[in-house]
This record gives sequence, structure tokens and C-alpha cells, in this order.
Amino acid sequence: MYPKITSLFLFFFISFSYAVHSQNQNRNNTVPDARIQKKVDSLLKLMTLEEKVGQMNQYNGFYDVTGPSPKEGNSKVKYDQLSNGMVGSMLTVRGVKEVRAVQKIVVEESRLGIPLIIGFDVIHGYKTISPIPLAEAASWDLDAIKKSAGVAAMEAAAAGINWTFAPMVDISRDARWGRVMEGAGEDPFLASKIATARVTGFQGEDLSSVQTIAACAKHFAAYGFSESGKEYNTVDIGTSTLYNMVLPPFKAAADAGVKTFMNGFNELNGIPVTGNQFLQRDILKKRWKFEGFVVSDWASIAEMTSWGYAKNLKAAAKNAVVAGSDMDMESKAYIDHLPQLVKDNEVDESLLDDAVRRILRVKFELGLFDDPYKYCDEERELATIGNAQNNEAVLDMAKKSIVLLKNDNQILPLKKSGQKIALIGALASDKNSPLGSWRTAADDNSAISVLEGMQKYSGNTLSYQKGADVVTGETAFIHELNINSNDKSGFKDAIDLAKQSDIVVMVLGEHGFQSGEGRSRTNLDLPGVQQDLLEEVFKVNENIVLVLNNGRPLSITWADEHIPAIVEAWHLGTQTGNAVAQVLYGDYNPSGKLPVSFPRNIGQVPIYYNYKSTGRPLAYEDKKMVFWSHYSDVENTPLYPFGHGLSYTSFKYNWLDLDKNVYEVNEKINISITVKNTGEVVGKEVVQLYIQDLFASITRPVKELKAFKMIELKPGESKKVNFTLDKNSLGFYNNEGEYIVEPGKFKIFAGGSSYTSLETEFELN
Ligand code: BGC
Repeated sequence: MYPKITSLFLFFFISFSYAVHSQNQNRNNTVPDARIQKKVDSLLKLMTLEEKVGQMNQYNGFYDVTGPSPKEGNSKVKYDQLSNGMVGSMLTVRGVKEVRAVQKIVVEESRLGIPLIIGFDVIHGYKTISPIPLAEAASWDLDAIKKSAGVAAMEAAAAGINWTFAPMVDISRDARWGRVMEGAGEDPFLASKIATARVTGFQGEDLSSVQTIAACAKHFAAYGFSESGKEYNTVDIGTSTLYNMVLPPFKAAADAGVKTFMNGFNELNGIPVTGNQFLQRDILKKRWKFEGFVVSDWASIAEMTSWGYAKNLKAAAKNAVVAGSDMDMESKAYIDHLPQLVKDNEVDESLLDDAVRRILRVKFELGLFDDPYKYCDEERELATIGNAQNNEAVLDMAKKSIVLLKNDNQILPLKKSGQKIALIGALASDKNSPLGSWRTAADDNSAISVLEGMQKYSGNTLSYQKGADVVTGETAFIHELNINSNDKSGFKDAIDLAKQSDIVVMVLGEHGFQSGEGRSRTNLDLPGVQQDLLEEVFKVNENIVLVLNNGRPLSITWADEHIPAIVEAWHLGTQTGNAVAQVLYGDYNPSGKLPVSFPRNIGQVPIYYNYKSTGRPLAYEDKKMVFWSHYSDVENTPLYPFGHGLSYTSFKYNWLDLDKNVYEVNEKINISITVKNTGEVVGKEVVQLYIQDLFASITRPVKELKAFKMIELKPGESKKVNFTLDKNSLGFYNNEGEYIVEPGKFKIFAGGSSYTSLETEFELN
């Protein structure tokens, strides 16, 4: 039928494409290179209908590919499809040996030899694991976040991978949802900045470099608003929330040149996002002019049948492709049904052409046509993965991600000598949990534990008791409700140790597998018997430093009322113990700020700083009133607000000034704020600027973050921090999705958290 393209032909084809590619490395990520486009078009002309569908088909790896018999058993189907050009991408294949093996099948055996794009969830590191994304977001340090993504990309690329399914840019206000750990928190402005940092970190300046990989903004869209925080649940949100809260980080990723998007498992207002034409075609591809490709989430095309949206897999395939899903991850819907759908004129082949063009373009940009094995270099793999520089970088990121929530009587930093220190909590000696969810290729138990980190400070006497386990048994695939430990047999030893100690450091919280995909919770307390342990220890020694490990906000109201120092240490990755110890001992002065609000109790969830005033916003003026928007059993405010985070020094915000009081819409608003270090050590502070649009055609939040800057001040030093806002900061999306700026009065607030201390007003004409 169709002739096999000879290797001589391929040689010329690829050489030509290489020359073209090298001369025209596309600097502007958002506009496709015209010459690459030409090559893509000519390759497309050579392709059969089935080969086109093959490019749109993605499979999970098969583990015996480098074993003795990849052509037998279950693997045979995949092997045959690879060798027939029926697979365009594989995921979870990793390591040069494995990647080379699958690539070789395609390149040497399929008719056109189109290389695979190899994807993987490189979410916060490949083997050298950096903090979970939520923790990184707490650094508010965009350069560090970008660098961390760069390290992950470098290691992944050295292991043969060319594409990560990250960053997850889903906004979430619901700590019950386990995937809060994977995003950048609750605020669209901060999340957009972080989306840009991560995309540019993964993709670098030059996508064809062997140190960079294609990124993927996911999950398009609104997955973070899963009803009641329950995983894979329905999502029903209004247009205003969609445009103003959910979409901005995706838009930022698209503007930063992200090469791919992933849709998701959720529906949005009745339509599964995988089959959602409005999102994928109208918004993403038309309005935002996105030129990359959209991959489905794992089997999310098939899941449209479970939603009751597509009556069978064939209908689901049609639905997804029409809606703009370009690649099918593991549903086998496209490979089994698209050819027939096209032959029956139910799907226009031009839709396939568009999808394949997008996919091939990214493969060209990655340089896979230049050399399909360019990411497969054993020496580079050995030299890069887990090397000292990468460990340095993730340590730096881990320190910056820690948030000091509370520090009464300056119990922290710890003195370096002469102290008897009790370290308590199973998580303190755990070398696996700190890697967090999505640890990609990290070896089990490869993190430095808090115990190991603290042992490096030898001036004090350090003794350890676990007190209680967090979970029992295997954690990775078991539902957390069955695995919280109830065993109190270790309490006595822990209490005895606390009695004899000057200071007790307790490491409590969630195990690394208690947040992440499929880990929704209806309770945000410390899991298992850890709360009891904390209270029992407190009875014998009140000098407690509580170090939290968690992938989501927890409700720690009792701890906040009783425990003098609380350090939010999330799941910080490979270098956890070193980072925590350096912060506890004051070798690093904490500078992180919460990217999410911490509730007083779970009943306040969803809780977020940028809420609307309501028609009854009476707040605190008269607490005796009944009929205003509040709960009668707990105050409206969170336990710790968005943006909160202390330092070992203190800062005073002295002055907020605008260059004018009235501005024309095209004018720039120049703002200056003076901040002073009023403490005794050098410290870093994230100066935050918020606005409130006091009156608008759509109700606006009481506060919206619009700018932030990190400054470092010596003791006694004052600095003037300047910000400039313009109309791009003052408007909002109306319900048609248009960005509009309306004249009127605005408030401006500045401070070290969303509980700002300074405020002024201006008017926009
Ligand atoms: C997740 C995605 C992930 C994919 C591939 C899915 O279950 O929702 O975020 O990229 O699996 O591992």
C-alpha cells in the first residue's frame, strides 16, 4: 500500500530539517517558526490517515521494553503499534536505556520514523526533588522557582524525557482537595507569575537544548474548584470566577510560550472539560492564539462515557477531537475510532491535520527530528542526575519555601549549644515522606530527614523519640482513612524525653502521600493521634517548636493558641532536613509567605483572602448583630491569612504614597512604600501591594494582590520600595470574557501579608 520511506529519504529529510531548525531557532515562543511550519506541512502530506491518528495517540510505557521479550504478552500490542507508527508519544518511560529502546522501535521500524515525544510528571524535580509546588509558591521568589524548574528539566532531559506534565496552574481555595499541593495556591496574580516562572524554567531560552523540556499547563480548566474538594468531582462556577480567578494563570502560561496544555477529569458547568469546545477551541486556540497542542488527561476521553456525556468510546473520540483535544492519553479512543469517524465523514480530516501539525511542530522545536536520540546520552545522564549543584539548588529552594507562622518570645532560632533538645514525631526521622507526592524518579527514602539535618548541629544534646506514627503500612496507593495510625504505645517515651529537655521540636503533619491526586480529606486536623501527642507533650514541656509537614493548609487552631513557635515546612524534597535545621538554628532567616489561607476549622473552607464584601459586610463593628454575613461559632477571618509569614527580625511599614490622587486611564500610578527593619538581624521581606475597586459593574473582591517585591534589610535599615501600576492591573474580565477598566475610586493597601497595615485611595478617570 504505502511505501516505507527509505532511510536515504529520511536522511535528506532530517538533514534538511536540521539545517532549517538550527538557523531559525524560534526565539518568540508564541509564534511558530515559518520554516518549521513548512517542514511540518510537507511531512503531513506524506502521512496516511492512520499515521496521523497515530501521532495523536499516547501510551503509558511498558516496563519490559528493555527486557528479554518486549514482543510478547501485553507489551506486544504496544510494540506492534509503535512499530506501525500508531503511537506519537509515550509517558512514564524514563532513563536513557528505556527511552532509547522505545524510540528505536519507532524510528527504525515505522514507515515514517517520526520520533516519539516522551512525557512524564516531572512536577517538582526528577530525582533530586525540590519542595512540592505549593511550598515553592510560599517562597514568592520567582527566580528561585524558575531555577528549580530548570534543574528538574535538566535532570529529566538527561534521563531522555522531553516533556513534563507541569506546571499545574489550577487555582484552588479548598484545602480538602489533595492536589492543592501541586499548585501555586489561591491567588490568580501570584499563580500567574509562578506559572510564567515555571514555564520559562522548564522550557528555557531554547527548547531544542538538551537541558530543557516542553512544559504543560494543566488542568484546563477549573479542576481546582471540584465541588466539596472531592477528587474528580463536578465543577460549577460562574463566568466571573472562571475569567477572573481560574483562567489568568493559564493565560500567563500561554503568553509565556508553554508548548502544551492538558485538559482534565472535571466537568465545567455540565460539560466535561475534555470535550469542552468553548475552553479548548474558543478560548485557548482562538482567543489566546495558542499554537501548541492539548493532551487529554489520563483516560479522560473515555471517562466522558462515565459522565454520561458520550454514549460510547467512539462518540467520546468524536467529541474530544471536535472540542480541540489533540492527543489522547491512554483512552485508546482516537486510535480505535478516529480513522473510521473520518471515513464516515463524521469528523473532518482537517481537525486531525490541525492536531498533528501542532504535535509535530513541538517535536521539531525540541529537535527530535534533528536527532531522535539527542536526549539519550548515558554520560550526560550519569553526570547530571543527582549532582551536587542540583542538590545545592533544591536546598536553596527548600529554605526559601519555609514559612514561620508563629514565634512567641523568640523561642526560635534555637541556641547552638548547651541545650537539651528533644526531637519528637515519626515524620522527623522519615526519609520518604519529605519527598511528597509526585516524586517522579526519586529513590525511596532518599530525603535527608529532619533528624539527620539537626544532627549536623552538634553543640546541643539531641535525643529522638517518634511518639506516634502518622500512618500504618504502605502509603502510596492506600486510601488515607485506612492508614492513619491509632497507636499510642510510643507516647510514654516521648513524654519522658520532653520532660528532661529544654526545648521540644515536634515534627507533625501529613505523610507525603496524604496529599496529592486522589487524596481528598474531610478533616484538616493532624492525622492519626498526633494532636493527642502534641497536647500530652505540651502538658510536661511548653517550650515546643512545632514543625509542620503537609501538602495543604491544616486546621491547627489548638496549636496556634498554645504552642509558642510554628514552622510550616511542607514537604520540602531531598534536602528537607538540611533546610529545616538551617532555619531552626537561624542560619537561614525564614522569608516565606503563605500562598493559601489557613482556616480556623474545616467549616470555613473554601476560605480565601480575595472574597467579595457581600451585601452584609458588617464584620466586627458590632458583634452583637445577627444578620450579617458570618458564622455564629467562629470568626470570619482565617487562622493565618494569605501572604502571612514571619522573620527572625521585624518590619515596620511606615509610609504609603502615590504620586497623584487622580489619574487618567492611560496614566501610570507610581506608588512608594517605606519599610524598616526594626529587629536585630538581617531579614528578607515580601512587600505586598493590594487594590480594591470600590464600585464596579461586577462586584469585585475586597482585596486583590497586584504587585510584590522581595527586599532585604539590615537591622535599623529603611528602604523605599517603588511600584508602578497601570490599567492592566486595575481592570477585570466581564462576563463576556473581555478585559475592561472602569473609572472610579480604588483603595491601595500595602503590608507584609493580606492583612495590610497601610492604606490610601485614588480615583481613576
Ligand atoms: C493526572 C495528571 C497527570 C497524568 C499522567 C493523571 O492522573 O491527573 O495530572 O499528568 O495522570 O500521569
